[in-house]
Amino acid sequence: MSILNENFYWGGSASSFQTEGAYNEGGKGLSIYDVRKTNPLFSDWKVAIDFYHRYKEDIALMKEMGFNFYRFSIAWCRVIPNGDDEPNEEGLAFYDRVIDELIANGITPMICMYHFDLPYHLVKEHNGFASRYVVDCFERYAYVIMSRYGDRVKHWMTFNEQNLHAMNLRYSNATAPEGVDENKFLFQVNHHVMIAHCKAVRMLRKLVPDAKICGMVTYGLRYPATCHPDNVLSAKLANDYCNHFPVDVFTHGKYPAYMVAYLKNHGWMPEFDKSDEELLTYTVDYIAFSYYASSVIETCDFSEGHYADVIGSKTIKNPYLDRTEWGWEKDAVGFRTVLSSLYERTNLPVFVLENGMGHREELNENMTVEDDYRIEYHYNHILNLMKAVKEDGIECLGYITWGPIDIPSSQCEIAKRYGFVFVNRTEKDLKDLKRYKKKSFDFIKETFMKNGTNILQ
Ligand code: BG6
Repeated sequence: MSILNENFYWGGSASSFQTEGAYNEGGKGLSIYDVRKTNPLFSDWKVAIDFYHRYKEDIALMKEMGFNFYRFSIAWCRVIPNGDDEPNEEGLAFYDRVIDELIANGITPMICMYHFDLPYHLVKEHNGFASRYVVDCFERYAYVIMSRYGDRVKHWMTFNEQNLHAMNLRYSNATAPEGVDENKFLFQVNHHVMIAHCKAVRMLRKLVPDAKICGMVTYGLRYPATCHPDNVLSAKLANDYCNHFPVDVFTHGKYPAYMVAYLKNHGWMPEFDKSDEELLTYTVDYIAFSYYASSVIETCDFSEGHYADVIGSKTIKNPYLDRTEWGWEKDAVGFRTVLSSLYERTNLPVFVLENGMGHREELNENMTVEDDYRIEYHYNHILNLMKAVKEDGIECLGYITWGPIDIPSSQCEIAKRYGFVFVNRTEKDLKDLKRYKKKSFDFIKETFMKNGTNILQ
């Protein structure tokens, strides 16, 4: 018998812009991703892996891999083309078909409402989440999709990796006007995103009271480079600022004291509207996160500037870990540390919504990829998750892999692949987009089907 309960979720996740393609079909409006330039050596988002037309084939592959859960994001501009105009029935019907197909294959759907991809109109005309108007549009978007899909979708998340909004304006699609304090502006925009999250939570409670909703962060675990107390304190604060800030708001319903102090000391505390404090009290049902790697920092002086910049300048290599070609340090034990500390911190179930490793790959003469490194990566992470359940007593809802069928990376680089299924295309040549099973396909299938008992009894 597995140490994981029988309803444990196994599956995959991906965003709309990294999968769907069909960027100008079905009445879809333009997203910021359709407009923003990508690295000329990489691809563009127009076709991605053509999930829009191939979702049935892809969902069949998910079923074959033993998925009982799939998290996808809705392209806001597919269902409300400009973000603030009339809903687009053709776009809404597309997600009806995806949801119905998942359910027909025994796969529980989860909707992510926003994966960095704002309708372009709201970027151009309203400066993204800098505007409270966009927050209201988000609330209306929540109403449209929750009332449409709430009968079948019982797991929801608002913003992908919400802690990133406090670190870079790119994610909230806002630009600081000339002459303003950019960090003050950034934390104001971040506050708007938090309020939008809370409004969506409130909406779900009203429209679909039997559904669950989470907040999600990307957890970048920071270790101190030495045991010097100053260095240990720096790592603790770095984890609080980077990883825990939104988690604490999601669960406690207010800004945590360390963040209020940090923001006030820098003069960056956002302005609150009169209903904001009350809105923040809309807390979540569980905590979700993505996890890829950890990193090491030297002692930081956080008075020097934004914590993300300070930490960036103090990050050094971990001599004990291997890294991917992209420098991400593979750390399955760190994964267990994160699972346990998040559970302890929040007293809520934790849910892994992204995990995986990017690797450069090509099909071999047998039309497959011998990706033993990926098997090793997932094996180690699942083992440590199971140890966290067995030895640390955490409650974990599931293990959801990132990009289970190859997709372009966040930078639109198709060479950086995460999947158990190879998609036949390159950066510039779409080829036939055919799907081929990699060696890891069978490993993940066995693990999911056996509920992890092949890894830990
Ligand atoms: C997460 C994002 O940060 O990491 C995804 O939610 C992204 O959009 C994933 O693809 C992996 O990062 P990358 O840069 O390797 O694609």
